[in-house]
Amino acid sequence: MRRVAHIFALVVLVAGALSPARAEEPWRVPASARARRNPLPSSAAAAGLTLFAAYCVQCHGAAGRGDGLAAAALNPRPRDLTSPSVQGEFDGALFFKITRGRGAMPAWLWLSERERWALVWAIRNLGSASTHSERCSK
Ligand code: HEC
Repeated sequence: MRRVAHIFALVVLVAGALSPARAEEPWRVPASARARRNPLPSSAAAAGLTLFAAYCVQCHGAAGRGDGLAAAALNPRPRDLTSPSVQGEFDGALFFKITRGRGAMPAWLWLSERERWALVWAIRNLGSASTHSERCSK
């Protein structure tokens, strides 16, 4: 598993180095996509976090802060998923972005809809975990 992760990171690093730098543009999400509600209960976060650990940490980092092994080579870099700006997005917007991808962010269409909605719960979970630890470290 670690070896696979390292090979994966290497591929991403090369791809990132070769892709032309571009200015960060706002990522528009159609209103109809934004309005979609997460059909799963919050208990789906556990399954989502398992998927996150398998597919997302290389770039997004274990806690979703955008500091994964491969993140340094990406342009634009992945945003901190625990930040208020990402946490303030609608579930439907996160689902849309996970589904479509953009630039270095892969499209996760080959994951089932349920898995992608579970990932949305995982992102919510990472967000509240970080708020919690910030609150507790004060
Ligand atoms: C190869 C690196 C890579 C992997 C793997 C990856 N991402 Fe991303 N992700 C990115 C990058 C880069 C962006 C920023 C794209 C942009 O803004 O153009 C991004 C953006 C996002 C966003 C949008 C955040 C925002 O700005 O609103 C979400 C949500 C997201 N990723 C979730 C995931 C999930 C869930 C997974 C795993 C299933 C995943 N990503 C795997 C690189 C990656």
